[in-house]
Amino acid sequence: MSLGMEATKVAKTYNGNSVLRDCSYSFRPPGVYILTGPNGCGKSTFLRIAALIEQPDSGTIGFFSDDKRVDADLRLKRKITLVLPKVGVFNTSVFKNVAYGLTIRGIGKQETEEKVKKVLEFVQLSHKTRQNALTLSSGETQRLGIARALVMGPDILFLDEPTASVDQKNSRIIEEILLKMKQESGPTVIMTTHDQSQAKRLADTLLVIRDGVLAAEKGPK
Ligand SMILES: Nc1ncnc2c1ncn2[C@@H]1O[C@H](COP(=O)(O)OP(=O)(O)O)[C@@H](O)[C@H]1O
Ligand SMILES: [Mg+2]
Repeated sequence: MSLGMEATKVAKTYNGNSVLRDCSYSFRPPGVYILTGPNGCGKSTFLRIAALIEQPDSGTIGFFSDDKRVDADLRLKRKITLVLPKVGVFNTSVFKNVAYGLTIRGIGKQETEEKVKKVLEFVQLSHKTRQNALTLSSGETQRLGIARALVMGPDILFLDEPTASVDQKNSRIIEEILLKMKQESGPTVIMTTHDQSQAKRLADTLLVIRDGVLAAEKGPK
């Protein structure tokens, strides 16, 4: 399944303040979509709505597979994942944090071990496998969040400011992970960042929210 997502006239108001007025865009696989815009313009709000965590006041979010509409059921929700800027972790090893989603879905021990190993290598955290996740640095924690999302094999990965609270070195590693994901035909990425130069480095499509309206700055390469 190669999933596309279409936002149509999405609007959202909080306590009388209009945040999103008219956000329409068709996100088609594959590629990296980067959403920028000033602080408070509604990037995180848009991402939560697009990832079906929150309802818009009006407008719709639709998902498509080969141009056929897909119901927003549990099966679909398992194919889309949002990683928040502050990743919450369980008080246990890095391994168990990443394995959790597979375990609760009844995936066997050997398959779980293989998948977790692969994904930890991918985010360059193999050397931290047995460490308690609460003792990771913020950059490592963000990578753990990405690993936990990737291990489930999502079609669309939503990343909200993955490098906002991490140092330069980890920021670079996260950019490397995203580029590698693209090379290996990983999930479609829809990501927010306030870092303009990062946005230009990573984006296949650059989008911006201005005055509640979503617009494309740069089309697909
Ligand atoms: N749940 C909420 N309740 C009230 N106001 C909110 C809520 N979520 C976001 N907002 C407000 O909406 C605006 C946009 O927030 P946000 O989407 O986080 O912006 P960005 O991610 O672009 O910095 C901000 O003014 C924020 O305070
Ligand atoms: Mg935000």
